[in-house]
Amino acid sequence: VPLEETSLPLFFGWFLLPGIQDKVRCTSMDFLKTLDTLEAFKKHLPDFTVEAEKEVDLEQYFQANGALHCTTKFCDYGKAEGAKEYADKPAVEELYGSVFELSLSALFVTPRTVGARVSLSEDQLTLWPADAEKEAVSVVPAAATLPAGSRAHVTLGCAEGVEPQQTGFDLLEILALQQEGQEGELVEEMELGSLAYYGKGRWLLSLREPVSAQACFSSLYG
Ligand code: A2P
Repeated sequence: VPLEETSLPLFFGWFLLPGIQDKVRCTSMDFLKTLDTLEAFKKHLPDFTVEAEKEVDLEQYFQANGALHCTTKFCDYGKAEGAKEYADKPAVEELYGSVFELSLSALFVTPRTVGARVSLSEDQLTLWPADAEKEAVSVVPAAATLPAGSRAHVTLGCAEGVEPQQTGFDLLEILALQQEGQEGELVEEMELGSLAYYGKGRWLLSLREPVSAQACFSSLYG
């Protein structure tokens, strides 16, 4: 294998600094702990799991993995389409190693994943690959019409056997419903924000106060 083909990382992204990782994990745990005790959640439990009569402990249901981050470009060591082009972008070269303030604006839970929506600023969008949303259309057709940055997220946990890239698809699905004009069923005003239900076990908590998370733009070789 030529050296230049091995020099690309598994992925580029923003890696949350350690202090804020703990805070985000705690916020996520608090949310999960509250969610599965809500009557509304229990009512929709059959949408969430096939084992309808059982209760679900969401903290056990989702497995967390590795350092919290927001993937920009999945490169697969150069095997992914557009990996080299992305690595060569002037913004990527210039901003590599810089610390940003990411805005985590919502938390979402589906039967597959739990994640945080990242609302990117214009500066941050210079690091966002132009085709990130379009690459998801085979899974979420409406992704083609969503604005750039819609897929940006931090994976907080996945159900057993679910790949982390599913988190971005789950977020895109919810945003596609919103774009179609579905507000979701407003379920509850929680301390953290308002909780809405989008059917098929999909929950979105819009944070009253977005969490500002310091994160370093870098890459992981794994
Ligand atoms: P995500 O960004 O949703 O957390 P893996 O552990 O599967 O090798 O993935 C490493 C990281 O890259 C994860 O953060 C994962 O998902 C993301 N990822 C994996 N595959 C893809 C893909 N095909 N497109 C975009 N992101 C991906």
